[in-house]
Amino acid sequence: MKRRTPLYRNLLSYIGFTGAALVLVCGIILIIADAVMPDTNPYNALVTYLFIPMFITAGLAFGLLGVFREWRRRKRGDSREAHLPVIDFNQANTRRRLLWVSVSLAVFFSVSVIGMYRAFVFTESVAFCGTICHEIMDPEFTAYQYSPHARVACVECHIGEGADWYVRSKLSGLRQVYRTLLNSYELPIEVPIRNLRPARETCEQCHWPEQFVGSTERVQWHFWRDEASTPARYNIWMKVGGIRREAQTAHGIHWHISPWHTVRYWARDDQRLVIPWVEVTGPDGEIQIYQGDGVPEGGPPPGEIRTMDCIDCHNRPSHIYRPPDETVNLALAGNRLSRELPYIKKVAVALLKMDFETTTAAVTAIADGIREKYPLSDTALYTVQDIRQAITTLTDEYRLTHFPEQKVSWQTYPNHIGHRTWPGCFRCHNEALAATDGSHISAECSQCHDFVFQGQGAEAYGPFTYQSRSFQHPGGMEDVWEGMLCTDCHTPGAEL
Ligand code: HEC
Ligand code: HEC
Ligand code: HEC
Ligand code: HEC
Ligand code: HEC
Ligand code: HEC
Repeated sequence: MKRRTPLYRNLLSYIGFTGAALVLVCGIILIIADAVMPDTNPYNALVTYLFIPMFITAGLAFGLLGVFREWRRRKRGDSREAHLPVIDFNQANTRRRLLWVSVSLAVFFSVSVIGMYRAFVFTESVAFCGTICHEIMDPEFTAYQYSPHARVACVECHIGEGADWYVRSKLSGLRQVYRTLLNSYELPIEVPIRNLRPARETCEQCHWPEQFVGSTERVQWHFWRDEASTPARYNIWMKVGGIRREAQTAHGIHWHISPWHTVRYWARDDQRLVIPWVEVTGPDGEIQIYQGDGVPEGGPPPGEIRTMDCIDCHNRPSHIYRPPDETVNLALAGNRLSRELPYIKKVAVALLKMDFETTTAAVTAIADGIREKYPLSDTALYTVQDIRQAITTLTDEYRLTHFPEQKVSWQTYPNHIGHRTWPGCFRCHNEALAATDGSHISAECSQCHDFVFQGQGAEAYGPFTYQSRSFQHPGGMEDVWEGMLCTDCHTPGAEL
């Protein structure tokens, strides 16, 4: 009796099984590549250990489907057995051809697998994210390079680990590429990013709440707007607080992200600057609501309520566009601007506050502005070198805080940390929100920080003793500012 041919001898099974085998070879090469070229990227593993097995499974499934169909057909008696070409190894010609085919297949596969792998790694790289869409994301990429996170890949914050966010990001990425090609995007890029992954899943890969303990000291240099640009130093103890798991307690600034409390809020505007409703749920499920003007009857729309996470304070961890007074303070403190130039703080801030249509126009105007204020005839006070340095520093700083082509400047995106230029913490910590018992979310200065030193002029350079003291506002303003919001005077547009 004739031996029955195996059921896998049909076209579908051949394609399925061969496909699975080829993908398996790719998978093995990828695993080797992964071992030989270790990459810190969290997604390499995803392709190797998720997509490859998925394709192998799919190939096997097709193969088995073919077997099943062939089995049914044979029962019906119309087998579609596929005949393979007969290869006769006795012919030198065949042997040579086969050798060529195998070698080219091997080369083709190795090259394309490594190429695929590299292409994939590239789409996850900072260079891809920051420069391919250069025109659009130039502000973010530039600010990022000067931030504390300059060595953290974009994907670590914007995507994080796990397959679902990977797929989501690639889908939305495709849409963005499409929009870029069609030129149908709007500038500036809108924030907050609605579909940003909850920050706790990304940030907490590197910073976790137990890391915060007690207070950290911040030293800030300021320079007044007088002729000498008098220096001043603040030493501030920021009560970053933290959580203690064993005691199940949280305190200080990072209390908001405690596992035992949930803070939810509703903002009336898109930028989340006006917050009329805040809800705190305690460890036993007790709820406290602080409410101000403008909350709809029956509470805020449930779909618009947000649970507080890192981004509600740290919304600019990496794309930091400093206001002109901070920029100039840093330049003066770092000796990149000379205090020999009279009124340099005031002059420099005024120049950096100007807006221009193009960066070229700005650079020319800044250089002219400096030359006009500090004519060479006055070099008894300062040197030519001081003037040159001022022009270089200010034009460089201008480029870091103004991006006319993308319609982005230091004024475009609010920064929620602090409370001077933007409302920040004072969005909730204010007298306008009240609970039913009349209590407020406290705006007592010492709840968040202690001023342990504040000195100006020669005093700023020490020596000094730590001593808790109340904040002395500069510019001889005594107590005019008290009871006001800092943003009443310090808003971006103000003449300061
Ligand atoms: C430390 C984390 C972190 C890193 C690293 C990071 N980003 Fe961001 N990015 C953020 C956060 C947080 C926001 C603000 C989200 C919001 O306000 O909704 C943001 C916002 C953005 C925006 C929206 C516009 C804006 O300025 O807010 C773009 C575009 C962007 N990032 C691109 C990038 C690119 C490109 C890279 C890499 C070169 C990168 N990001 C690296 C955290 C990060
Ligand atoms: C891949 C690791 C990584 C991730 C993810 C990450 N960070 Fe960081 N972050 C760092 C490192 C490293 C530093 C310290 C940089 C330094 O000391 O200059 C830092 C510093 C900081 C600082 C202190 C900045 C300063 O001025 O000294 C803050 C605040 C911060 N990160 C917030 C965040 C937030 C918010 C996120 C999520 C959106 C985040 N980080 C995601 C690694 C990370
Ligand atoms: C209520 C606002 C708020 C929230 C929410 C918040 N932070 Fe902070 N965080 C701060 C402030 C304020 C500081 C101190 C800033 C300074 O000193 O300039 C700080 C400091 C830090 C630092 C630097 C710590 C140090 O010792 O210098 C890191 C890192 C950080 N936060 C990460 C995070 C991460 C990650 C999350 C989310 C899990 C988070 N923060 C949630 C307000 C917040
Ligand atoms: C969305 C609203 C909201 C924002 C924004 C906010 N907070 Fe709070 N914060 C609260 C609430 C609510 C409490 C608890 C008040 C209570 O019930 O006593 C609180 C409490 C605190 C506490 C006391 C925690 C403790 O030890 O019990 C500190 C410190 C604090 N916030 C700092 C900050 C800082 C710094 C910022 C800005 C970077 C900020 N908060 C921004 C809502 C907010
Ligand atoms: C809810 C918390 C909170 C309260 C209340 C608070 N601050 Fe602050 N303050 C901050 C944070 C956070 C920063 C740091 C911002 C940063 O990292 O740039 C800050 C920074 C400052 C600075 C440094 C200058 C600057 O803006 O860069 C001054 C000055 C200051 N606060 C004064 C005060 C005074 C005065 C009060 C009381 C009327 C007060 N703060 C109340 C959270 C608070
Ligand atoms: C009534 C208006 C007004 C209010 C309110 C006000 N300021 Fe000021 N602030 C000024 C003026 C004007 C200057 C410039 C003074 C100078 O440099 O001669 C200034 C300067 C400063 C500086 C120095 C800035 C620099 O260039 O280095 C800091 C820091 C500051 N203010 C913090 C605050 C804080 C924090 C608050 C809220 C607690 C606040 N101010 C509220 C008007 C105000």
